[in-house]
Amino acid sequence: MTTANGTSKTVTVRVQRFNPDVDKKPYLADFPVQMTPDTTILDALESIKAEQDGSVTYRRSCRHAICGSCAMNINGHNVLVCHEPLRNHLDRKGQVTIRPLPYLPIIKDLVVDRTSFWQQYLRVKPWLIPPSDSSGNVPETEFRVSPEEVAALNDAEKCIMCGACYSACTVVAFNKKYIGPHALLKSFLRVMDPRDSTPAERLADLDQGDGVFRCHTIFNCIDACPKGLDPTKAIETLRGLVQKRAKFEETRQQRQQKLAQPILNDPPGGFANL
Ligand code: F3S
Ligand code: FES
Repeated sequence: MTTANGTSKTVTVRVQRFNPDVDKKPYLADFPVQMTPDTTILDALESIKAEQDGSVTYRRSCRHAICGSCAMNINGHNVLVCHEPLRNHLDRKGQVTIRPLPYLPIIKDLVVDRTSFWQQYLRVKPWLIPPSDSSGNVPETEFRVSPEEVAALNDAEKCIMCGACYSACTVVAFNKKYIGPHALLKSFLRVMDPRDSTPAERLADLDQGDGVFRCHTIFNCIDACPKGLDPTKAIETLRGLVQKRAKFEETRQQRQQKLAQPILNDPPGGFANL
């Protein structure tokens, strides 16, 4: 039903429900929702929970596409529901279907178990490992990074770990030992960072059977990323560096001799000269 001023109408939001305590399998439940041009998919879920069924379960926190907790599958595509206008996802019948992220165990309704996602994240040691002397002391001097070195990170630091790429990858779907696009993008971030002192060690791990060569270049991760990042390109770069990791580490060590001097106009991380 459209209101007199045409700015609000009733649409049908189909929510996948599953309570493991009582349900044998997931099913879709329909809820009528009043939609305005500004209503996001998360707003619709919030109104359903507040006004129709308080047992509808989902994750969300920031509501500003920052925390990454609200990734869900909308009409077959993984998105951040706090960032998506509901009107953009209605089909011809005025319906939208909300499911949990695919290929992950469902805990309840739209909440999935992300254990494998976080295990792979920790596996790549996503923290910076700075250079240190034999006593473990890290240089106190400022470590200046050049604009070219920052550009080489290709915005990977903007990843918010929402899991949209991970659960869109059909290699992950059948093999949870595969590191996955999210963790490989984090690894890329550390390998390419001139302040990190262990690129060869990182690259050796990525050379394992469940590492960069397990990626089948399916590209689903690119389509799913709500931040417009390119995990596939990062994986391709890592594949190239895996082959020449000893030389890459040597170049990194040379770079770290000049911590306080950004090497302007030098190839990012020095790898392009290898
Ligand atoms: Fe998966 Fe992306 Fe590779 S979807 S197979 S990680 S290109
Ligand atoms: Fe934080 Fe959507 S609620 S990204």
